[in-house]
Amino acid sequence: MRKINLGVLASGRGSNLQSIIDATERGEVDAEVRIVISNNSKAYALERARNHNIAAVHLSHKQFESGDAFDDALIEMLKKHGVELVVLAGYMKLISPKVCEAYRHRILNIHPALLPSFGGKGMYGMHVHEAVIESGAKISGLTVHIVDEQYDHGPIVLQKTVPVRDDDDPDSLAARILPEEHKMYPEAIQLFAEGKIRVEGRRVYTT
Ligand code: GAR
Repeated sequence: MRKINLGVLASGRGSNLQSIIDATERGEVDAEVRIVISNNSKAYALERARNHNIAAVHLSHKQFESGDAFDDALIEMLKKHGVELVVLAGYMKLISPKVCEAYRHRILNIHPALLPSFGGKGMYGMHVHEAVIESGAKISGLTVHIVDEQYDHGPIVLQKTVPVRDDDDPDSLAARILPEEHKMYPEAIQLFAEGKIRVEGRRVYTT
């Protein structure tokens, strides 16, 4: 099968990026990471990309006079590398309407909880697990969804539950969820590569 071209946006350590690169290299996903872009020049995600001879670019709003100029540069960079699917992997910035429009239904995000709970602005990384523990919820999980103009809001593609144990703290819960992320994100990308993701309103059909 033809491989689709991925552009990964990441702000931090990039363990999800690594799981995607590994899955593509093992031939489990019909895709190739063509470029990794980070708003953070020190993100370990950029290092991981370089280790696999993948283009690694630091692109931040701070380098541009306006949000619009940043959007144009981001879209141009993605197009230049032939990106067909944008994958957010721990990317902490909101995707603008212009970028959403340029890649409508072609941007995925992974979130370490069961959306629509525990999502939205400020709900990223460990903050999510802290909020889940604080709430007393007995179940958490993970969600892959299509990105729209709001944080953690677009149509849901895949979800899985993970139990919250009585002795959990945010670190132990994160440690139970992260390996599931590393399995689920490549699966979602493969569904996209096979043309199996069909969006109707808020619902996604994958058969
Ligand atoms: C992951 O747990 C991901 O689900 C989360 O940030 C972490 C990034 O880890 N994303 C969000 O919270 C988005 N709202 P990584 O850099 O090791 O992939």
